[in-house]
Amino acid sequence: MTSNEAAWIKKPGGLIEVETVEKWIPDGVELLVRVEAVNYNPTDAKLRRSDLFQPQFPLIVGFTFAGTVISTGPDVSSVKPGDRVVVARWGQAGTDNKFAALQRYALALEENTLKLEPEITFEDASGVIANLATVVSALNIYMGLYGGSSAVGGLAVKYATDAGYEVVTTSSSANKKLVEERHAAHIIDHCQSKEDILRELRAHGPYEGLFEAIGSQTTT
Ligand SMILES: NC(=O)c1ccc[n+]([C@@H]2O[C@H](COP(=O)([O-])OP(=O)(O)OC[C@H]3O[C@@H](n4cnc5c(N)ncnc54)[C@H](OP(=O)(O)O)[C@@H]3O)[C@@H](O)[C@H]2O)c1
Repeated sequence: MTSNEAAWIKKPGGLIEVETVEKWIPDGVELLVRVEAVNYNPTDAKLRRSDLFQPQFPLIVGFTFAGTVISTGPDVSSVKPGDRVVVARWGQAGTDNKFAALQRYALALEENTLKLEPEITFEDASGVIANLATVVSALNIYMGLYGGSSAVGGLAVKYATDAGYEVVTTSSSANKKLVEERHAAHIIDHCQSKEDILRELRAHGPYEGLFEAIGSQTTT
């Protein structure tokens, strides 16, 4: 195994710095993965800029990644070296840098790991594992949508329409076709004035629930 390198943010607001880091050895239910694709999502950017998640610095960036298993701890039973896997850092792995995505070789907990079918690319798998879980957990509690054109929003539109809900959502004209393909009943152009967006949203209501899938100050 070549040496390990990681992308660090050393302090709040700091830029990413690439540095050599320890070669992790998997123990118990951990596995060591050669990272092939990393999903850089808005949550990573928010970690750097805000204290919403109260991250501990220095930190290694990244929550989801896909790659090839290099070695496994003695208690791992569902994957073996050579398997292609995708990983999301839920639970205790979320705050420990050895489990972070943006490094050449990352550790993963077996419970956070899924084995990939040969036809699934590393890029697709790492791109979908966290936002899909977000949608399923959120929409099982709330229903109704704002922000159908984000990665989370697009999956949410699909999930809700597949479940038989009538979905009203937003998109710019650039992403309207994509959102239409997910069968939203009404797509409101969010590039209009705030007053016009609210008027249209109200006109299509009442709603059983509202799910805001952009997460900026304006949209919230
Ligand atoms: N990705 C994940 O795994 C994940 C997991 C948990 C939580 N989250 C959170 O979910 C939110 C969305 O993340 P994402 O990864 O889905 O984002 P994303 O895919 O990067 O979303 C970008 C899209 O949002 C649309 N947009 C931008 N400004 C907008 C506005 N003012 N009103 C309506 N639409 C607007 C734009 O499409 P158009 O302008 O073309 O419509 C743009 O293409 C973030 O708050 C993130 O922290 C993400």
